Amino acid sequence: MSSFLSIDFQDDQLVLIDQTKLPLVEEYIKTDELERISVAIERLEVRGAPAIGITAAYAIALALKGVSCNVDEVFNSAYKRLASTRPTAVNLFWALDEMRSVFEANKNKPDIYGILLEAAKQIHQDDIEMCNAMGKNGLGIFEKKSNVLTHCNTGRLATGGEGTAFSVIKTGYENGLVKFVYSDETRPLLQGSRLTAFELAKNGIPFAMNTDSTAAVLMKEDKVDLVITGADRIAVNGDSANKIGTYNLAVLCKHHNIPFYITAPTTTIDLKIETGNKIKIEERGREEINQIKNVQVTRPEYDVYSPAFDVTPNELISGIITEKALHRPPYNFK
Ligand code: MRU
Repeated sequence: MSSFLSIDFQDDQLVLIDQTKLPLVEEYIKTDELERISVAIERLEVRGAPAIGITAAYAIALALKGVSCNVDEVFNSAYKRLASTRPTAVNLFWALDEMRSVFEANKNKPDIYGILLEAAKQIHQDDIEMCNAMGKNGLGIFEKKSNVLTHCNTGRLATGGEGTAFSVIKTGYENGLVKFVYSDETRPLLQGSRLTAFELAKNGIPFAMNTDSTAAVLMKEDKVDLVITGADRIAVNGDSANKIGTYNLAVLCKHHNIPFYITAPTTTIDLKIETGNKIKIEERGREEINQIKNVQVTRPEYDVYSPAFDVTPNELISGIITEKALHRPPYNFK
């Protein structure tokens, strides 16, 4: 059993495990301040598409704590600040819009904070249930006891529950369908070697970490039966944005004839965009490349190109697992 909570609400404050310190230090951030929560999202102290959405929902509620006048102004400025934190994961904007509809329907009530808090808790609870359903729906992808390769972190740290792709891996393992997991280290921020490794170890799932560039060799050596990743935004046609390096894996899978699966809740599907070309891709700062854990590894003045995500075209995706079903191509989420 996993023995940590990534997002919790205690004593009218939000509690987040600080993911930038894992796995070496397990430290929690406890705050009710909108600005501190916004910075936590920007710094990736909390990260992963569903986790960002849940965090933003709690932050909106907290912004209204103790506020009785100018509620519109307070709500709009909290919404704007949170919406400016990270652009790619649509779960953030989905959660903010859910909170906006609850706010609009109840803004004249004296306990608007309590009402918004209940809505945030419901978003959190729904995510837990979607994670469990994705785990079950994903069982259909395993043809035998399999070796799986995954990228980035998609587990308890990235969601409100057991994860997206990680939930499929965990449920598969518990059902005797997953033998071993290869965890891409996931440069530059090492979500794989720091966070997925941490979660695999906590769950007792056998694994090895590998550098991102080892994936081709693993496939060539027949060590990978399938690849499963999460997503940050999925277009109506199934094109899927996920952590940089995911597209590489999908191309490699095609060459080696290995199935490539995406797992995400329907809150990650953006019904407003038809194709992946419309997905805004976040670019990160040069320090994340020219330093590793605050140690300068190359000259700071060298230029850097660092998109945080890439888009895998739908034709490279063997299936998309949501809480509703295992979807097969051609995809049409309308
Ligand atoms: O930059 P991050 O760490 O927030 O990126 C996270 C990912 O790309 C995950 O794979 C994605 O959010 C899906 S996991 C639930």
